[in-house]
Amino acid sequence: MKAENLTLEQILEWYLCAGVDETCGDRPFAEPPAAEAGPVPVVGLAVRQATTGLAQAVGSACQNAKDICARAGTLEELKRAVENFEGCALKMTAAHTVFGDGNPQAKVVFIGEAPGADEDRIGVPFVGRSGHLLDKMMNAVGLTRADAYICNILPWRPPGNRTPLDSEVAVCLPFLKRQIDLVDPDYIFILGASAANSVLDTAETISKMRGKWFEYEKSNGKKARVLASFHPAYLLRTPGQKSRSWSDLLRLRARMDEENG
Ligand code: URA
Repeated sequence: MKAENLTLEQILEWYLCAGVDETCGDRPFAEPPAAEAGPVPVVGLAVRQATTGLAQAVGSACQNAKDICARAGTLEELKRAVENFEGCALKMTAAHTVFGDGNPQAKVVFIGEAPGADEDRIGVPFVGRSGHLLDKMMNAVGLTRADAYICNILPWRPPGNRTPLDSEVAVCLPFLKRQIDLVDPDYIFILGASAANSVLDTAETISKMRGKWFEYEKSNGKKARVLASFHPAYLLRTPGQKSRSWSDLLRLRARMDEENG
């Protein structure tokens, strides 16, 4: 007898004889819902768990960095604390921790993105090709390293100079902010979009930000005047933009002169 000629009772009896004596749903032959098909949900779950774990690890590393900063009362103490910090994986591939350098009482702080190969080898910010150009740019407006404090968003070189991850920036930002608080500058000159976006908490392009004054509120409630301009590494690749950086530096110089006699 063909299956289509059986009554419902006969079908049930056939199931019983085959050992199927229980139902677990009212649509036994329905296709499983698409979301339950295949191994994707298992992978999705693993990815979700890993992402949550990573976010928690980043959150606790950020908190740890903030606690360390709160305890550091001088730049020397902060430098030692950053050198001993284990919450950022970049440290594992870096040769040196590149902490800020220059005058700890400077009126102006220059902020770059991250150490390059030369800085990683030597342990001092802006000592490679970009650094030589930065020295020339500063000298052109009457500033030397002895007048300024120079630092980076990240104290460790990202492998191959890759763009820093948001999580790396988030973990290291408290160290930069504490340096700014301890130096307590009146002026901040930011080099490049990545540093400007982190310090000013914006996603704006450097072309739109450069040449305009911004403010940065320090932990003592006082505000530093901020200018952002092109990164020296970009200027080395795009010399045609040097005149714009030059005009940004002149703007900084003019305001410093105007406000400090
Ligand atoms: N580029 C940076 O942003 N910082 C350095 O210290 C060197 C190159």
